[in-house]
This record gives sequence, C-alpha cells and structure tokens, in this order.
Amino acid sequence: MDTFEYRNKTLFCENIKIEDIISEVGTPAYIYSKNTILARYHELKTAFGDVDTLICFSVKSNSNLSICKVLAEAGSGFDVVSGGELFRAIKAGGDPSRIVFAGVGKTDKEIRYALENDIFMFNVESLSELGHINALAGESGKVPRVALRINPDIDAKTHAKTTTGKKENKFGIDFTEAEELIKQSSRYSSVDLCGLHVHLGSPIYTVDPYVRALRKIVKLIQKCRDNGLDIEYMNIGGGYCISYTGEEVIRPRDYASKILPLVKEMQCNIIMEPGRFIVGNSGILITRVTYTKETLHGKKFIICDAAMNDLIRPALYDAFHRIWPVNTSIKMPKVEDPHKSTIKKGMDLVDIVGPVCESSDVFAAKRALPKVGEGDLLAIFSAGAYGFSMSSQYNSRPRPCEVLVDGDQYRIIRKRETYEDLVKGENFT
Ligand code: LLP
Repeated sequence: MDTFEYRNKTLFCENIKIEDIISEVGTPAYIYSKNTILARYHELKTAFGDVDTLICFSVKSNSNLSICKVLAEAGSGFDVVSGGELFRAIKAGGDPSRIVFAGVGKTDKEIRYALENDIFMFNVESLSELGHINALAGESGKVPRVALRINPDIDAKTHAKTTTGKKENKFGIDFTEAEELIKQSSRYSSVDLCGLHVHLGSPIYTVDPYVRALRKIVKLIQKCRDNGLDIEYMNIGGGYCISYTGEEVIRPRDYASKILPLVKEMQCNIIMEPGRFIVGNSGILITRVTYTKETLHGKKFIICDAAMNDLIRPALYDAFHRIWPVNTSIKMPKVEDPHKSTIKKGMDLVDIVGPVCESSDVFAAKRALPKVGEGDLLAIFSAGAYGFSMSSQYNSRPRPCEVLVDGDQYRIIRKRETYEDLVKGENFT
C-alpha cells in the first residue's frame, strides 16, 4: 500500500479519503500515516540489524506527542536538543535510558533536568560544555555517559543552511581539540567518556560523506583507547535522505552496506538519530485555495490558506515539495527537474502562495498545476518532517491541526489553534 495514493481521482492516506478527513477538520491540516512511520522505523532497524543499534528518533523533525508515542511503543529512543524536547520525549512514553541529548548550548538547567532523568548520553559539543556537565554531574553524584561530537570538516553537500559538519559550522569539536581533550580526560572524572558522535547535515543523498567522516574517526577511536578511554558507542547522527520529487533515492540498506563495515572495525555499538527519514514522507499538508489571481502581466497566482508560517521550508531553503490537487483526473507527473515545470493539457503555470505579508511566502514558483479554482484542495507532499515543528504564529495565524491516520481510522492529534490561543500567556491589563 502506498501511503498517499490517488484512487478514483481522489487522494487517500492509507485507507481514508483525504477529503473525508478535511470535511471534519478543515484546512490547513497536517495529515500523517502511522503505518508509514512504523515501516520507515523498521526499515532502518533491519538495515542496521547486524550490529547492536539504538535508533533515536530526532524529535526536532516532528515533536508531536502522539507521533513520538508511536515510535516509543515501537522501541525507539529519542534524540533531543533542548529541555523542552526532553520533556516531550518523556511525556510521550520515551524511555530516558534511550535518550541522547545534543546541541551546542545546553544550559545548566537543561543539564540538571537530563541528569535527574538519567538519560542515556550527552553529546558534548565543546570543552566548556564538558566542564559544566562534569561539575553538575559531580554535584548530583551521577556519572553520565558522554560522547564527544566531532566536527570532521566534511562537506555533506546539503543546502548551506542545513550543513553541520564543516569547520566553519558551530557544531562539534575538531580533531586537534578532541585529541588534546582525550589526553586530559582524567580531569573529567565525573563523566563516563564512552562515545563519539558525528552529524554531518541533512538531507544527505550519498553515503560517501558518512564514510569519509567515519574513516577519520576510526583513527581517533584508536587514540582514545591508547589513552585508556573505552569507546563503546559510535553515534552516526541523522541526515538520511528522502525523496521529495518522487524519484528513487538511496535507502537505509545502501547506507548500512558502507557504514556497517566501518563501525564493525571500530568495535562499537551504533547510535543513530534519524528524523526526516522516518517522518518526512509520512506526512502531508492540506490547504484550500482561497483565491486565484491573474495579473495584467499574465502571471497566475494560486492563493491558498496555508502559508510560510505553517511550512517554512520553501521560504527558508528554497525547498522543493510536490503539490497537487486532492481531487483531479490528471496524474501527478514525474518530476524531471524541480526547477522546471512543463505544462500539459488542462494545466496552468502558477505560483502557489500563502496569505502572509512577505514576498517569500511562496510554496512553489512557476509550477505546472492542473487548473484549480476557489475552494479546491491542494496536497503539499513530504511535509511530515520540519513542517509543523518549525511552524509559527507569524501574522497572528493560528497553527493548523494535526491528524494521524491508522488504516481506516483517524484521530486529531493536535487541535487547530484558536484566536484565544494566540494571546494565551500575554499579560494584558
Ligand atoms: N542529529 C542531529 C545532531 C541533528 O542536528 C539533526 C538535524 C538530526 C540528528 C536529524 O536529522 P535528519 O535525520 O532529520 O536529517 N530544518 C531543516 C533540517 C535541519 C536539521 C537539523 N538537525 C529542513 O527542514 O530541512
């Protein structure tokens, strides 16, 4: 079963007509498929099954409690980057002993919160941070596991704004500093330095950057061991790609075939932090056409009721998302080139935009779309990762609802916000 497929000219999620869901919940709405999320999780688990692997779902990609709960029940751990994400992961039923905590700016408050909850591991990004964790651990009497996040200076060929493993990025510790730290590791006696961590960026469409980074790290592990540090865990981060255009992209087994031999050589257990791979293509955003507008210069706009505040990826990264009417007799074409659209019979070349007062509030420019009119529904595909979790109330727009589909059932997992929600918490006298 395809997660989102057209049957009889109308879009389904699993076994439910999108139109039926929307007639109850309205638009804009995020709709997720529970069984796709689980299938993606198990695909990764199977691909890396040769080695003891802890999969930690990256909460930042989709932090809805019900989504996290689905994954917690499947046995997933969680990758968090703030006290708030840790709170969510635990509230969703996540087992703290399967939670890893990354991020360059963990505050003392967040470190204490993580210590109180006995999380599995801190991914440490600087010497100053290590000092804080060591001191706070000493006070608490606990000896937390720590992995050093290495910045391997590898270009993962992602969008410039989502690359993290180059020397100019703020993330991780470079090799020279790591080697210094290893020599002085006895200074940090309140932590158990037993892992290394690397996250190169996202999404990464070839396995090559992982291989290059891990090859560099193999040597560092040896140095750690020579200095008496027992490195048991190699955290390979996230970044596994998904297809945004419908074309084939590499799958977990392709990553695993090259990564596993290296990790075996390291004699380490694997930790990984996938986000997008699990939820990206498990969710869509449905929006309704409010108006169509044609300028005197012949430009056609489709103005819809979702906007950049609901899904910011196109505005922020020029990200490509397929967009197609929910009801249509025209088959969604193969995307030959995301930057070029060819119109066929019954289609228009349009800009699909939201109502926000910013010129960057554009979901797609010069895109071929079947002719649509006021009130028609559009599906924005591949919106399950970094969609709702990056949404805001900009322009005082209540955020959309979220719906989870399971077979022929669905459930609202986050209510649409109201105007009252917009002002909740403001002190107004
Ligand atoms: N681990 C760490 C340390 C990360 O920083 C990230 C993502 C992940 C794991 C998960 O990466 P994933 O498997 O989801 O690719 N907002 C951007 C993506 C930013 C990713 C930030 N870090 C987007 O919409 O494309």
